[in-house]
Amino acid sequence: MLSDKDRIFTNLYGFDDLSLKGAMARGAWDGTKQILERGIDAIIDEMKKSGLRGRGGAGFPTGLKWSFMPKEVKERPHYLVVNADESEPGTCKDRDILRNDPHTLIEGCLIASFAMRAHVCYVYVRGEFIREREALQRAIDEAYAAKLVGKDNIHGYPFDIYMHHGAGAYICGEETALLESLEGKKGQPRLKPPFPANSGVWGCPTTVNNVESIAVAPTILRRGAGWFAGIGRPNNTGTKVFCISGHVNKPCNVEEEMGIPLRELIEKHAGGVRGGWDNLLAIIPGGASVPLIPKSICDDVLMDFDSLKNVQSGLGTAAVIVMDKSTDIVKAITRLAYFYKHESCGQCTPCREGTGWMWRVMKRMTVGDSNPAEIDLLQEVTKEVEGHTICALGDAAAWPIQGLIRHFRPELERRMAARKVAAE
Ligand SMILES: Cc1cc2nc3c(=O)[nH]c(=O)nc-3n(C[C@H](O)[C@H](O)[C@H](O)COP(=O)(O)O)c2cc1C
Ligand code: SF4
Repeated sequence: MLSDKDRIFTNLYGFDDLSLKGAMARGAWDGTKQILERGIDAIIDEMKKSGLRGRGGAGFPTGLKWSFMPKEVKERPHYLVVNADESEPGTCKDRDILRNDPHTLIEGCLIASFAMRAHVCYVYVRGEFIREREALQRAIDEAYAAKLVGKDNIHGYPFDIYMHHGAGAYICGEETALLESLEGKKGQPRLKPPFPANSGVWGCPTTVNNVESIAVAPTILRRGAGWFAGIGRPNNTGTKVFCISGHVNKPCNVEEEMGIPLRELIEKHAGGVRGGWDNLLAIIPGGASVPLIPKSICDDVLMDFDSLKNVQSGLGTAAVIVMDKSTDIVKAITRLAYFYKHESCGQCTPCREGTGWMWRVMKRMTVGDSNPAEIDLLQEVTKEVEGHTICALGDAAAWPIQGLIRHFRPELERRMAARKVAAE
């Protein structure tokens, strides 16, 4: 269990002073100039050594990503774009950072931009986040007024930061769709390559990082890579903000040690499963896109990238959606299938057609209006969508259904048999 002294987000719940003064009293903006003075290579090296993996879902190493930016700024300026779209169902961690600890993010934006030779950063905020946008803008204004950022700031590195408000589409969280949207176009993912580090916003070298990935950077650089890497497990280091929702007694966001056992996470912080642990049916451990895991796996799985991958699921955004035995598991996954159908941008045929097809079949399966052979067909279609699309929304649509078939096939068959008997 994470001890208080190792917490990065000390005002995650907004109980403390939200102003710049309060943030500084908690340690923000402490020695930022000295961090920059270490130089780009030292900063990137430290980030690599910390083992930080991106907190936006895919878990790509952050230091390595920063190192992909061109080593020289030529005619095209460099940009940092922070992904505050946070649309993955179940996920609400970046929201709390924006609301209650925004200076951790703004300081991180300056340091990360410096490390990537960018003088401008955009924070792309989810359309529905009105209060969060206001809180972030307030904090940005405070930082400008205190000359912490701006063209002539006390850190000696000209830097501008802009808050950009999205319009509320899930797909705009995908990094290249986000860049399209930032440019004022329809939010549709781009084909890669070229990758954003080569050609991102307005065709310029760009890095897109999640809010949490950037907001933890200043503390890592202040306390040292060794400190961060000493928390969690190798390749799965540091602290992580988990979002626990669903059938628990006290839904919450909590910063914990990466690799904490799932059961401990829920029992220590969320008041346990409603009706007790034995009343648990299944958990989606990383936001709607990752396959569910049944209770038997939840009993002792660890909450980190590799442990969850080993049980054919994923850490994703670390949004833990708990479902007790009262859940209609087929209906729950069908609802997610509808979400992906609704959010598909329609560019690729397997996603555009497949998400609708999968949802319609799932809808019939909730009432048993199908036959066992169609389960195999459904599985086959998920495989035709997965990995055959421009962006990972196709995979995200396929995985929850694959998880359902993997662990709850008997339940699907039971419904089909029951319907047959009722019809006779
Ligand atoms: C459909 C879709 C939605 C996504 N939504 C988000 C999001 O809301 N926030 C986010 O940080 N990453 C989201 N991602 C992942 C981003 O594309 C990107 O990998 C991430 O912002 C990189 O940041 P990181 O390296 O710091 O994790 C999404 C990906 C897909 C395919
Ligand atoms: S996978 Fe879906 S959301 Fe992604 S680009 Fe293709 S159609 Fe659009």
